[in-house]
Amino acid sequence: MKIDGKTKIVGIFGYPLAHSLSPHLHNAAFDELALDFVYLPFWVQSKNLEVAVRAIRSLNMVGVNVTIPHKERIMAYLDEVAPDARMMGAVNTVLNRKGKLIGYNTDGQGFIDSLEGEGELNPNGKRVMLLGAGGAARAISSVLIQEGIASLTIVNRTQRRGEELVHHLKRIFKNRCPIDFLEFGKRNLEARLREINLFVNATSVGLNPEGDLLINLDLFSPGTFIHDIVYNRKTELLEAAEQRGLPCLGGLGMLIRQAALSFEIWTHRKAPIQKMRDTAEKELGMKKRRT
Ligand SMILES: NC(=O)c1ccc[n+]([C@@H]2O[C@H](COP(=O)([O-])OP(=O)(O)OC[C@H]3O[C@@H](n4cnc5c(N)ncnc54)[C@H](OP(=O)(O)O)[C@@H]3O)[C@@H](O)[C@H]2O)c1
Repeated sequence: MKIDGKTKIVGIFGYPLAHSLSPHLHNAAFDELALDFVYLPFWVQSKNLEVAVRAIRSLNMVGVNVTIPHKERIMAYLDEVAPDARMMGAVNTVLNRKGKLIGYNTDGQGFIDSLEGEGELNPNGKRVMLLGAGGAARAISSVLIQEGIASLTIVNRTQRRGEELVHHLKRIFKNRCPIDFLEFGKRNLEARLREINLFVNATSVGLNPEGDLLINLDLFSPGTFIHDIVYNRKTELLEAAEQRGLPCLGGLGMLIRQAALSFEIWTHRKAPIQKMRDTAEKELGMKKRRT
């Protein structure tokens, strides 16, 4: 990589960032297309978010990705938020268009592109259970409703946060599909597992080997599709799904697709997806596998 006075700067705002794959993915993609861009990690704590956002303008950066814990709060500091990001209530990509900061969300579309591409599953008409009510769950629930799912059950450890998401979705989507909330680990959850066609884990459980979702996979009906969006390892959930012959998908495809969409917003060039995937697999020390 050659950096000179014309090199365009993008990066990621988050805290912590040590394990982020995004710098690897984007810098490999810039190299592949010989674009004079560089992608840098910026460890931005919550108390510094506003000043960091102002620096996108003052440092003439092209844009940034935004990750935990800033995806929701950053919206307050932007000039404009794209309608689908506004609907999700979360931004993961910012574009600096001649000093005007515009927020986008590529997580939701990245999720759908991966589900339909690698997973070969069209969510239309499916009964869905979604674990989690954080930034990722917000994006995923919105796009799934837009894709025409038959029903949505949100399950979350913290009741208040889960109910808030359900309230938000009902306000935005009115009666597009039935949406309800169940508390994590409760008996009524088990009864519901049999009815669903698509189960998505959008919690951080599974990021670490000691994580355990405490879901009894024997209660799923045959053919239930299991999608765990954790991307840094093959989770216990995916192992258990494979053992039972259930169709399943990990989160690496979503990571790459959302990164590709951000890349395209900044560069107006088609992202080299295969290069990004090879780079991610190399960084994660994975052999080629179904993601
Ligand atoms: N593949 C991709 O491209 C992609 C993109 C975005 C995110 N992700 C992954 O998605 C996950 C969530 O990200 P996020 O941005 O939504 O994070 P977040 O906003 O911090 O939300 C975390 C979610 O996980 C739940 N949770 C955390 N620890 C838990 C535990 N021990 N037991 C039960 N629930 C627990 C939280 O529940 P409470 O509300 O109860 O705290 C919350 O619902 C992370 O693993 C992240 O790496 C993947």
